[in-house]
Amino acid sequence: MDALRVGIAGLGTVGAEVVRVIERQERTLAARCGRPVRVVAVTARSKAKKRGLDLRGIKWAKNPLAIATDPEVDCFVELIGGVDEPAGPAIEAALAAGKSVVTANKALIAKHGLKLAALAEKHGVALNYEAAVGAAIPVIKTLREGLAGTDIDRIYGILNGTCNYILTRMEQEGLSFDECLKDAQRLGYAEANPAFDVDGHDTAQKLSILASLAFGTKVAQSAVYVEGITSITPEDLRAAADLGYRLKLLGVAVRTPQGIEQRVHPTMVPRSSSIAQVMGVTNAVTIDGDGIPPITLVGAGAGAAATASAVVADIADVARGIRAEPFGRPVAKLAAISKAPMQRH
Ligand code: HSE
Repeated sequence: MDALRVGIAGLGTVGAEVVRVIERQERTLAARCGRPVRVVAVTARSKAKKRGLDLRGIKWAKNPLAIATDPEVDCFVELIGGVDEPAGPAIEAALAAGKSVVTANKALIAKHGLKLAALAEKHGVALNYEAAVGAAIPVIKTLREGLAGTDIDRIYGILNGTCNYILTRMEQEGLSFDECLKDAQRLGYAEANPAFDVDGHDTAQKLSILASLAFGTKVAQSAVYVEGITSITPEDLRAAADLGYRLKLLGVAVRTPQGIEQRVHPTMVPRSSSIAQVMGVTNAVTIDGDGIPPITLVGAGAGAAATASAVVADIADVARGIRAEPFGRPVAKLAAISKAPMQRH
């Protein structure tokens, strides 16, 4: 079978790692997918930047639109980030040109996911975004495919690696918030604008995507109550510890008789609970479904290797011809969200 020809827009730490993984896993991927997977085109702002990649024989473009519409590209991989130019229009152009799309862009999926999913449906192509939530944790696939037969009542967890890393180091090492944030940036965990992490908006974007998949409702980031971790001090963490608790930034979405409640805020969790043991950049997501004991998925929630692992898995699905509905059901079947009043817990 012919190779799947992949075009990657964005050669930052994640994009470069995706190129490396595809090269390193060449044989395994070909065996798993029944056909080779080849990177044929890339875009990045600077060609001269040292990335340690051998890009000989790979087409180079500056404008993502060029590879999104390139007839020699079968699968367009967007790793630029941002909700508008150039990521959004490039994805739209790729879908409209009948190419499957893989992206790690949670902000874009939270804001324009439904429009893009409708476009993917119309053209019979895949829109995969496993890396958008929980990086290496296969939570999108679990909700979209694995739990298709389960009614979900509640989904919650630690969805931002940067915040969990900061809270962990502040508690364990008594370091200041700013010091920990700097390290999270240096390690490649934080967003380009780290305010999205620490203000809770990154968690809210991810939660709104998970809630849509879990409850079959339209993605509604604006329906999420959001509070971040910027006002938490080492004293707060010590006080929580004295009371037998640990502070975690949780995202929680619950189905209630009044509608769907979605909230993000620092939460005191008992130190003996399993979620309290989730430390550092690790994320955890628990899914409570009708008739089954809760399922918890735990794993690296940020970082180049973890994110690249999910991106390559999405590319492998495209190579295998697997095409799930982006939000687990046709866009027309997604219910409008009815926002439940916030309960105090
Ligand atoms: N900045 C995000 C985080 C990256 O820290 O979780 C992964 O989405």
